[in-house]
Amino acid sequence: MIESETGARFLIRGGRSLSGKVRVSGAKNSVLKLMAACLLAPAAYTLSNVPDIQDVRTMAEVLQHLGAVVGFENGVMNVDTTRVASQTAPYELVQKMRASIQIMGPLVAHYGQARVAMPGGCNLGPRKIDIHLKGLTQLGAEITSNHGFIEVQAPRLRGTDILLEYPSVGATENLMMAAVLAEGETLIDNAAREPEIVDLSKFLVSMGADVEGAGTSTIRVRGVKELHGAEHAVIGDRIEAGTFLIAGAISGGQVEVEGISPRVLDLFLSKLRSVGVEVRENSHSIWACGDVERYQGTDIATLPYPGFATDLQAQTMALLSVAKGPSIVTENVFESRFVFVDELIRLGADIKVAGHHAVVNGGRRLTGTIVCCSDLRAGAALVLAGLAAEGVTEVREIYHVDRGYEDFEGKLVSLGADVRRVA
Ligand code: UD1
Repeated sequence: MIESETGARFLIRGGRSLSGKVRVSGAKNSVLKLMAACLLAPAAYTLSNVPDIQDVRTMAEVLQHLGAVVGFENGVMNVDTTRVASQTAPYELVQKMRASIQIMGPLVAHYGQARVAMPGGCNLGPRKIDIHLKGLTQLGAEITSNHGFIEVQAPRLRGTDILLEYPSVGATENLMMAAVLAEGETLIDNAAREPEIVDLSKFLVSMGADVEGAGTSTIRVRGVKELHGAEHAVIGDRIEAGTFLIAGAISGGQVEVEGISPRVLDLFLSKLRSVGVEVRENSHSIWACGDVERYQGTDIATLPYPGFATDLQAQTMALLSVAKGPSIVTENVFESRFVFVDELIRLGADIKVAGHHAVVNGGRRLTGTIVCCSDLRAGAALVLAGLAAEGVTEVREIYHVDRGYEDFEGKLVSLGADVRRVA
């Protein structure tokens, strides 16, 4: 597994055109929930196409803390939950990774209780969990909070109709996992439609659950008495795919990403085309190429899937800062996702932020300097900007990048980038 060091940084010498093929790893935003789902039945599970990233390691620690046995080698993870003895996720782990709260649904569904440290604020602003908790209450759980922990209890959950006030990805997944063992039928309306939710639904069905409608706004779950172990291959990471396509485009090169269906990136690819990037699609790969001098600005607004992914906003902003003309970027999902803009400005970008809008006056020449990651996708965006910048860009605090990109620098180097990790 990778060893992430707090003091590690990337040194990027910009100006090289990237070229070649890269295979995307399994989706971070799917695998963490699949790992949580292994708590629904004490059994043995095998997940393949698992990315070797820090968040996976943290989720493995969460499962091990509860009593599960986890083995991980060459992209294959074996999880044995037959000896799970605790239902408490401690502060140290939840603080490291917010997705730890996804164990609430499975634990209360199978063991009748879950105790999870309250996730603190994070660099994306105060991310609430009220929709998760309201849904669990509707399923019959009793929720209390004491000494910084949320306690969820229910001898047996009861299926019901739940209308989400926002199509939250995490809440949809937590509630799906809770409902699969509830008595009777649950309808989740205004559900999130992300491809990772479809992946979770497939895994739950292979465990014996009765779930329909994942990928649409209405998910129907008929509770079953018990579930069993299963095997599953994690879908490709669409955010990693988008990041590498931008790496090719921002360096004026040509990059093909394999292991991803272009359908899950529809809107993103149409925005790349608006910028002037040439994009070709095959059933399981996407090819992009372009000439930076000809790029033009375009507007983007993040929204729940199939809208423009908030997880690709920062990387796209790096591209828009070198594309001629103005672009307006509107962030509708996470309020603090513009924190990294100051770092992009230090590289020479001209961006003005007003509330959840950013006006990018593109076509600027970027020049390398020292910059600092504020979160995972911001970190990726700074590396992308470094590829286009003149001279050397030093990206610090790259432990954020290690949370979600498998061998980021190795893959970039294989495409011809000059990127080095230094301790
Ligand atoms: C997941 C992804 C994250 C991605 C996001 C949106 C994982 C580990 N993370 O995060 O990478 O950026 O989807 O695609 O899969 N909200 C509430 N109350 C709630 C839940 C959410 O107000 O109970 C708000 C959040 O503050 C945020 C918005 O809803 O403004 C979206 O959150 P959500 O869809 O839940 O994202 P996550 O599941 O946290």
